[in-house]
Amino acid sequence: MKRVFIKTYGCQMNVYDSSRMMDILNAEGYTETDAPEKADLVLLNTCHIREKASEKMYSDIGRLDVMKKERAAEGVDVKIGVAGCVAQAEGKEILRRASAVDLVVGPQSYHRLPHLLRQKGRAIETEFPLEDKFDQMPAVTQRIGLTKPVTSFLTVQEGCDKFCTFCVVPYTRGAEFSRPAAKIIDEAKLLADKGVREFTLLGQNVNAYHGIGTDGTEWNLGRLLFALAEIPQIKRLRYMTSHPRDMHEDLYTAHRDLPQVMPYLNLPVQSGSDKILKAMNRQHTAADYLKIIERLKNDCPDLALSSDFIVGFPSETDDDFRDTLQLVETVGYASSFTFSYSPRPGTPAASMEQLPENLKMERLHALQALLMKQQTAFKESLRGKTLDVLFEKTGRFEGQLGGRTPYLQPIHADAPAEMMGQVVQVIVTDVGTNSLSGTLVSKQPQPAALAEANI
Ligand code: SAH
Ligand code: SF4
Ligand code: F3S
Repeated sequence: MKRVFIKTYGCQMNVYDSSRMMDILNAEGYTETDAPEKADLVLLNTCHIREKASEKMYSDIGRLDVMKKERAAEGVDVKIGVAGCVAQAEGKEILRRASAVDLVVGPQSYHRLPHLLRQKGRAIETEFPLEDKFDQMPAVTQRIGLTKPVTSFLTVQEGCDKFCTFCVVPYTRGAEFSRPAAKIIDEAKLLADKGVREFTLLGQNVNAYHGIGTDGTEWNLGRLLFALAEIPQIKRLRYMTSHPRDMHEDLYTAHRDLPQVMPYLNLPVQSGSDKILKAMNRQHTAADYLKIIERLKNDCPDLALSSDFIVGFPSETDDDFRDTLQLVETVGYASSFTFSYSPRPGTPAASMEQLPENLKMERLHALQALLMKQQTAFKESLRGKTLDVLFEKTGRFEGQLGGRTPYLQPIHADAPAEMMGQVVQVIVTDVGTNSLSGTLVSKQPQPAALAEANI
């Protein structure tokens, strides 16, 4: 029996990919272990988005190298593999720098893992193959045996053709590609039958989805959401990450008309300055973004918003930064992801004149302080409200269950175990830094048949 340990860095798509690699390795006779020192194969599923992310990988490899030598002294041959976006961006460099690494595999080649593992010597696969990797993988069933997830990611679109000047994704994930709707629906049904009640559809540009529909026509993300909402067990649908350029009519309608589509949206704006948005090649203005938000709020008044922001992009002045703060004041965010610009090799912005580190940090902290104030105010506004909560895990204390509000905040309450996987009404009683607390409106779990039928 061979054992595998996978460490995942970076975004949700890497989390999904790790689970798919686990499916593939299970079919190859590997079982999962949660301790790298017990593994015969250690896979690092890496992220290249900012400098820190790739540095982390190299320091982890250093530690694994020591472990690998200790195990070799005991007669055990441990293999170390690097997958993900660093593998794609600097695969050869990894093999040169890190002698402990046996295998390098890019995100579009995971279906080739069994072949690479059987190869003698060190193996590398970072081409963008013509075949669809998803077609070559075993079905998603394997991982369900280990835990029984209530929520799941589901990749529907991958890659990016937008080439924002700061971003490595078009180089690491390749050209935009949408999975056929029938494949997505089959995967969702399979997981729903196993107990999954909430899906987060994933894509680097998820709302650019344009896959072939079950009727043979091209579907957008809105159409896909309508089709998934017909699966009776599915109670909640979310999607990320979206681009303002790809908002479309059907998506507004999905937010307005589908109760399964949760009133939460991460729509990254990056900056509030038109000059910086142009230099970033985002292909929209601050006013375009605000118009989208207005329309969304019109169709879905309780929509909670989130965004990604980059501060300290080359040539950003105090005035440009003030425009970002102004946009944040105008929109009002329930959550956010803030980053200081990190030059990435090979991207256009990396060769522009860079701002000093201390200025970037100053701006980052100022933006974070404003966003934190808004986030706290949003959470406080939920106090005393009755919200639908989907319970997805046991709580920290005996007799508790944990779940999420429609707006994605973690919340826990005393609740019977049968409520796992059910959407129940919870009154928010307390607002903590990491999680909300609540009490159940009714202590009675739904009868299994009703819960299943989504009534
Ligand atoms: N596809 C998504 C985001 C992908 S990367 C989109 O188009 O918005 C996730 C986030 O990382 C980005 O939204 C951006 O805010 C941040 N990011 C990407 N490259 C970065 C860089 N070089 N430096 C700092 N932050 C970066
Ligand atoms: Fe990166 Fe821009 Fe593509 Fe998003 S849209 S993945 S930020 S290049
Ligand atoms: Fe990182 Fe690649 Fe995701 S660079 S953010 S793991 S797409």
